[in-house]
Amino acid sequence: MSLTLPDSLSYAEVESINHWTDHLFSFRVGRPSTFRFRSGEFVMLGLPVAGKPLLRAYSVASPFWDDALDFYSIKIMDGPLTSRLQHIQPGDKIILGKKPTGTLVLDALKPGKRLFLFSTGTGIAPFASLIRDPETYEKYEQVILTHTCRNISELDYGQQLVTSLDDDPLLGETIPGRLTYFSSTTREQYSQMGRITNLLSTGDFFRRLEIEELEPEYDRAMICGSLAMIKDTSEILETAGLQEGANSSPREFVIEKAFAQ
Ligand code: A2P
Repeated sequence: MSLTLPDSLSYAEVESINHWTDHLFSFRVGRPSTFRFRSGEFVMLGLPVAGKPLLRAYSVASPFWDDALDFYSIKIMDGPLTSRLQHIQPGDKIILGKKPTGTLVLDALKPGKRLFLFSTGTGIAPFASLIRDPETYEKYEQVILTHTCRNISELDYGQQLVTSLDDDPLLGETIPGRLTYFSSTTREQYSQMGRITNLLSTGDFFRRLEIEELEPEYDRAMICGSLAMIKDTSEILETAGLQEGANSSPREFVIEKAFAQ
């Protein structure tokens, strides 16, 4: 029997699940008709556990116009939620919050020309939404998405997503030449290796992409990864003259922790 939920929560039906590696999976749930969000926002999501909703924050990975909601998650063996969530099947119900929120939104940045989206691990999820939002390309001439993971297989989700955009009915014609995807690994041999922080501070990143170094006047950025990655990347952006903003005071960059439990 399902739990009676407070007004702030509702049930959503699982449509599909994709297991990317033995510790990464994504899933798609039906979108409640009243559910609205801005690309880049997160929502509380979970399962009934011991008679109560057990919820964690998850970035919506799908675009705002989609009729379903995608989420990308790690699996932690003894994680209170993901140890259970990883076993969901099509037709199951999950619990979904009704009020998405977050700082990785276009409105929290001052207008600019280039938008850098720096991610590690599941931190790519909010950017999976933003790179499929036509408004991103209306506001920025160039969008540069970076994704760094320990191993090559962890890059699959982002790689497939970026490849799929060529056939995207809304963006297929906009994206060529506008979206740059940069991936690197840190623990497995790959064509591009190194933490994004190291690649930025040595200048290797800019040289490999053959682009200009950061320029606070027209560069904007969003960062999503572990706390340490956010801190270190923020310091590099600040050294380059960019300042952190928020919904209430748009500036040159915004940050958010990649949620995982
Ligand atoms: P590394 O393998 O050198 O730790 P995690 O799975 O631990 O969240 O890491 C995801 C990716 O983020 C890994 O490639 C990891 O590199 C990288 N990373 C971890 N900490 C930092 C940091 N402080 N700055 C930049 N990248 C980081």
